[in-house]
Amino acid sequence: MASEKAEKRFSHRRIERNVSLLGFLALIAVVIGGIVEIAPLFWIDNTVEKVEGMRPYTPLELAGRNVYIREGCYTCHSQMIRPFRDEVERYGHYSLAAESMYDHPFQWGSKRTGPDLARVGGRYSDEWHKAHLIDPRSVVPESIMPPYAFLAEKDLQAGDMRNDLTALYRVGVPYTKADIEKANEDMAAQVDPAAGIDLQKRYPKAQVRDFDGDPDRLTEMDALIAYLQMLGTLVDVDKAAPQERAGEAEAGR
Ligand code: HEC
Repeated sequence: MASEKAEKRFSHRRIERNVSLLGFLALIAVVIGGIVEIAPLFWIDNTVEKVEGMRPYTPLELAGRNVYIREGCYTCHSQMIRPFRDEVERYGHYSLAAESMYDHPFQWGSKRTGPDLARVGGRYSDEWHKAHLIDPRSVVPESIMPPYAFLAEKDLQAGDMRNDLTALYRVGVPYTKADIEKANEDMAAQVDPAAGIDLQKRYPKAQVRDFDGDPDRLTEMDALIAYLQMLGTLVDVDKAAPQERAGEAEAGR
């Protein structure tokens, strides 16, 4: 019968019984898959559109980010707003690739037990964040987030921040020589309004103030709140996506 013949011609039997042929074909399949996955990484610089306002983290924000990673906040929180209506209505403009281009490692996350934090900066007061981190149930009664009260007690011992900045510089984050040299001073200056002016020149939109309500000490709480309060605040997203705006206008939206 014709169908039997066709079966023979295309049957797997021949491939499955010939180790060399099977190996060769498997190799080809893997190579194609590999190219599809790996090749785009070589053109990543073209893929990430530059947007105005993006700057590297200040040393204090970076120290806060280190606390965020150390405490595993990313196991419950994502930092990537997807371009779906429900997400955009809840969290704000969807995340742009450039907004995480200085994140090493990125914090997109893969699980949302809690809300996305990509644009949480400025949404709450410092006092709210402090109360929430010390005891989440004090401000959100139904919250299942664990408390992090110890952060307010622990002095920030971030180590030599020049090393952190240097490491990031080596993977392409454009810190200047001055940024790296002054990293430790900058970290202290960000919680001291009298000293923070030079910092703000080099890091536009850096928020300079005491974050944890205890101006005498620089705590891990200061660093973490400084980090949370800057998330999503650097780029003016509506200006940053003019092409899409034009497209939306054409579509009559
Ligand atoms: C076990 C999961 C879990 C972990 C770990 C966790 N959170 Fe949460 N977080 C939640 C949940 C659930 C909510 C929503 C309820 C609430 O506001 O407390 C939340 C809310 C928040 C909010 C308010 C967001 C908003 O838009 O209302 C912030 C800010 C936050 N978390 C920061 C952190 C930080 C910083 C850490 C790490 C120190 C952390 N979370 C660790 C579960 C978690």
